[in-house]
Amino acid sequence: ALLRMAAAAETDVSIPDYVGLEAYRQAGGYQLLQQVRIGTLNTDQLIATLGDAGLRGLGGAGFPAGKKWQIVRSYPGPRLMSINGDEGEPGTFKDRIYLEQDPHRAFEGALIAAHAVEAERIYLYMRDEYPAVLAILRQEIAALEATGIVKPGFIELRRGAGAYICGEESAMLESIEGKRGMPRHRPPYIAEVGLFGRPTLNHNVETLWWIRDIVEKGAQWFATQGKPGHPGIRSWSVSGRVKNPGVKLAPAGVTVRELINDYCGGMADGHEFKAYLPGGASGGILPATLGDIPLDFGGDLAKQGAFVGSHAIVVFSRADNIKQVTLNLMKFFKHESCGKCTPCRDGTEKLVALLQEQGLMPEDKIRDLEMVMRDSSICGLGQAAPNPVNHLLTHFRSDL
Ligand SMILES: Cc1cc2nc3c(=O)[nH]c(=O)nc-3n(C[C@H](O)[C@H](O)[C@H](O)COP(=O)(O)O)c2cc1C
Ligand code: SF4
Repeated sequence: ALLRMAAAAETDVSIPDYVGLEAYRQAGGYQLLQQVRIGTLNTDQLIATLGDAGLRGLGGAGFPAGKKWQIVRSYPGPRLMSINGDEGEPGTFKDRIYLEQDPHRAFEGALIAAHAVEAERIYLYMRDEYPAVLAILRQEIAALEATGIVKPGFIELRRGAGAYICGEESAMLESIEGKRGMPRHRPPYIAEVGLFGRPTLNHNVETLWWIRDIVEKGAQWFATQGKPGHPGIRSWSVSGRVKNPGVKLAPAGVTVRELINDYCGGMADGHEFKAYLPGGASGGILPATLGDIPLDFGGDLAKQGAFVGSHAIVVFSRADNIKQVTLNLMKFFKHESCGKCTPCRDGTEKLVALLQEQGLMPEDKIRDLEMVMRDSSICGLGQAAPNPVNHLLTHFRSDL
């Protein structure tokens, strides 16, 4: 309660109950970090454990976490680390929940990762629309410094200014450097030339949040919680026409039908399941007839031209018109396109215009544009932006 009052007084926002530093340490927190720092657990063991657990990046791309540590370590130091707390993918709210409940679990994971890649400093890029999270982080970083767990300034908090593109990791680094947030050309990847030109390890908040549990409870504990062939437990941000939306802990490989029925208490009253976004705005729109596909990176979802990304599931019902949903998503991409490359800057604008044309939609023009955007946009925003349009034309013709 004292922590809450102190943080609230500083920022005038309502701070939820959360596990502060003292409570976290009393429950065994930061002992793992200590073991890592004194060498009882070495980096090779840590990387092997993350690999056996099957921990993948949970910010959207799903890159194996341990492998990323290895790649960053392979480039000569000095190295840096960044934490991506931008949480900009529409429908995603898991990082917020974790940071509002148990922020030190993410900090401990981050400090272990920083030790593993010998990062000199951690830059934490935080979504500014989460004022309670920002207040908690300020408070708890100060507490970590006061106890000597980190040196003053080792974790630097940076506020994002609300641009979706600043969640894309290279644009985020530009933003941290004080420049306009625009993605960089790759290669080189940020693991080699990242923040201020240094090799940089970047992770999503939730990826780091799982590290303590995985090492303490074991790689097998984590891996076996997934469905067969889909290692791991995942945090699904479920919203839309369900009875009980929220962050649901469910296996990797769960289906949307299981999420709706077994985790969300079914559809909202009076609504019949029609369609869903499997991965926020970017992952496409699938019909209820494809509601039994295992949700995970790659696999059957990829065969449908869809992806799970940050695990944001938005459920639609017969009350929703999918052409209107698609138009809404396209307007979002048009607004958030950073404008650096022509296929995305002009393509998103053109797709919005084509969707708004009266009469029959010019499908051949839309398909042509879709291919150009996918093949030649610089970053994931422009490459994924046509996904909903593709699915609209493939699965929802009666809504055209
Ligand atoms: C347009 C776009 C927006 C993104 N937004 C976020 C975001 O808000 N948070 C995040 O963690 N990753 C986001 N990503 C993914 C990051 O580029 C990167 O893959 C991720 O932070 C890596 O961390 P991880 O390996 O722990 O997932 C975004 C990617 C794209 C293309
Ligand atoms: S694809 Fe879009 S968001 Fe990405 S660099 Fe090009 S214009 Fe910017």
